[in-house]
Amino acid sequence: MHHAAITHHQLNWRYLACDVHPDRLKEAIEGARVMGWIGLNLTVPHKLLAVKLVDELDESARQWGAVNTIRFESAQPDGSWLPTGLSENSSDLPNRARGFNTDASALTRALKEELDFHPPGSSVLLLGAGGGAGRVAALKLAADGVDSLFLINRTESKAKALADEIQGRYPLVKTEVGYPKRQVDLLLNATSVGLKAEDPLPLDETSFSLKKARTVYDMIYRPRETRLLQAAKRSGQRCANGLGMLLYQGAEAFEIWSQRPAPVEQMRQALQAIP
Ligand code: ATR
Repeated sequence: MHHAAITHHQLNWRYLACDVHPDRLKEAIEGARVMGWIGLNLTVPHKLLAVKLVDELDESARQWGAVNTIRFESAQPDGSWLPTGLSENSSDLPNRARGFNTDASALTRALKEELDFHPPGSSVLLLGAGGGAGRVAALKLAADGVDSLFLINRTESKAKALADEIQGRYPLVKTEVGYPKRQVDLLLNATSVGLKAEDPLPLDETSFSLKKARTVYDMIYRPRETRLLQAAKRSGQRCANGLGMLLYQGAEAFEIWSQRPAPVEQMRQALQAIP
């Protein structure tokens, strides 16, 4: 996906994947900064840890409490900071790491474009409210004005803690822990249940029938069709997998690093070409 964007803009950049132990994340970020890297993406379990490890937090990372994108910035002679990717001689200059979050906006963009789902006034059943992805999703949907949020988590205490936080930060949103009795506009799976072929549904169908969800979004994108999405499709519901969210968080990260428009369609094609 990023190489498609790099090629499109004819940049002399490379996007690499590195395994880093969480205990050594601080060193990894420092090392990349010192070597004049342009930026980083972070995935679990680094997104929460990185909040404390960057020099500056963008408003997006502050608001959602997680960093999935770092942009290195180089000090300019006039005292301003320029993205390292746009700066000449960046390794000679003092530089810093700025943390961003592009997951939250990517989720709502994917929900709008793929499910025609608009948060204001809507009702959402969120599965996996205790995980990192579920937390960001719930906070973003609350900030965007959903009417009611129903939070489910295997470890219920984590869902309760998140419900308390949402009630404090977004008091107009009706937040409950547990399955709703009525229909919802969106059922959102943020659990890791469905990653493996033998996984059951992430939903307790004795408590909530899938048919009561108007639309279904599964953040999982591999496999392309989880058991949840297969069931939603069978019952004729509008549904989508997490590929759109993956695409849009990457597109926004590319724009943060390069200050150029992301070629979204080329990036989408690159993602879709992955077997
Ligand atoms: P993160 O999103 O922070 O990486 P995770 O460990 O991958 O977290 O788990 C994501 C979510 O999937 C969590 O809500 C987790 O529930 P717990 O908070 O109880 O751990 C949920 N989850 C993982 N395995 C599950 C399972 N077998 N059944 C139900 N929920 C599960």
